[in-house]
Amino acid sequence: MSEHESTYVPKTGIEKWLDTRLPIVRFGADYLSLPTPKNLNYWYTFGAILALCLMTQIVTGIVLAMHYVPNTEMAFASVERIMRDVNGGDIIRYTHANGASMFFVAVYLHMLRGLYYGSYKAPREMIWIIGCLIFFLMIATAFLGYVLPWGQMSFWGAEVITNLIGAVPVIGEPVLIWLRGGPAIDNATLNRFFSLHYLLPFVILGCVVLHLWALHTAGQNNPVGILIPKERHAKDMVPFHPYYTVKDGFAIILFIILFAIFVFFMPTALGHAENYIPANPLVTPSHIVPEWYMLPFYAILRAIPDKFGGVVAMFGSIGVLFILPWLDTSKVRSMRYRPTMRTFFVIFVVVGIGLGWCGGQLPDAQVVPGMPSFTLIDGELNSYLWLTRLFTAYYFAFFFLIMPLVGLKETPKPIPATISEPVLSGGYAMTAAAPASPEKKG
Ligand code: HEM
Repeated sequence: MSEHESTYVPKTGIEKWLDTRLPIVRFGADYLSLPTPKNLNYWYTFGAILALCLMTQIVTGIVLAMHYVPNTEMAFASVERIMRDVNGGDIIRYTHANGASMFFVAVYLHMLRGLYYGSYKAPREMIWIIGCLIFFLMIATAFLGYVLPWGQMSFWGAEVITNLIGAVPVIGEPVLIWLRGGPAIDNATLNRFFSLHYLLPFVILGCVVLHLWALHTAGQNNPVGILIPKERHAKDMVPFHPYYTVKDGFAIILFIILFAIFVFFMPTALGHAENYIPANPLVTPSHIVPEWYMLPFYAILRAIPDKFGGVVAMFGSIGVLFILPWLDTSKVRSMRYRPTMRTFFVIFVVVGIGLGWCGGQLPDAQVVPGMPSFTLIDGELNSYLWLTRLFTAYYFAFFFLIMPLVGLKETPKPIPATISEPVLSGGYAMTAAAPASPEKKG
């Protein structure tokens, strides 16, 4: 795609003048006419949806910051004031709070799409790695933002998560104090969290620009997962506009409807009631839980009995995503042609949801009726913990064992020679046998 030649011809005098000085209109026009594989399905609309989510968070966040006061004495009351006295304040706050959830819904689907179609494999490693960085920054931003209303869950969530850093040997303690701005979570903590929460979305924005740059250098993957050779461009590619602007636009409308249902009809459904109680360092809530989108990682943290081990596992579960392109040994990208891997992928999705569910349970709950409890070295291992550890083991095995081994052992289905073939043959009839991709790996 990088070789895509500009077809833009400046028409008016102003356009000609600008084109020789700052060819920004040419840039936009070239972007819109980019040749794009014609078989992209609705899973490919989440990139555009994510861009919308980021913009929504930035715009609503800036307005909220005009009224929010980052001071422990006033933060909670300033948020209540936004809800009651600021014009449209309740809608803006609910859009921002639910927007975070919608952002994570979209990013998880976007990542699973990439995983399923092998979009992280050569030559798209950089698109994926920058994506992982965006994901990590999103988690950090959401965590910082959750502290700002200074409710009970804000305070105790910050207490639990920052405490984890203290578990790191030698440097843990000084880093913890540096991060909090003092020995305890207090005004200094709230101030720096506010400052960073304002900053990070713009860092994410910068990363999105790099993400798209890498995308247009390597070229978009597609559900078949094969490279479209230059001589097939005329048949297999369509210009991005109007084909995908319309498709993305339609998906965005559906997404906005879902978003609006949450904002207008159940704005607090995804939140936690405890956060409507002002922060009190002297009263620990009975059940400290993060927002739903962090629960799988929280479960992994708690799966390991040792605190430092838990921290390593939790960061490791995100870190492993960065090296994913080198763990997958398969020559075939799309799981459409990898039935064995597809089964493991479905289990992975179920395990991810299971981890989320486990992360939301009380640490000492006996929540799975009929499931046995075991007595192990670290004491009573109840049924919930039993499941959490099983799911955590599968999570890591998926990346470190299943991906490398299945890629070497499986026999993929024959891959079509072109992306048009599965459509024109009226089904999934194939011509070419494996090896899967005409493109070289690595
Ligand atoms: C603010 C967050 C993000 C935005 C705005 C964004 C935007 C986009 C856009 C517009 C595309 C092209 C359209 C599409 O394929 O959907 C894309 C593709 C892609 N994104 Fe993202 N993205 C984000 C986060 C991520 C994350 C967290 C990952 C993975 C960890 C990721 C991995 C990818 C990959 C691998 C592709 C190429 C897909 C393909 O060609 O098959 N993105 N992204």
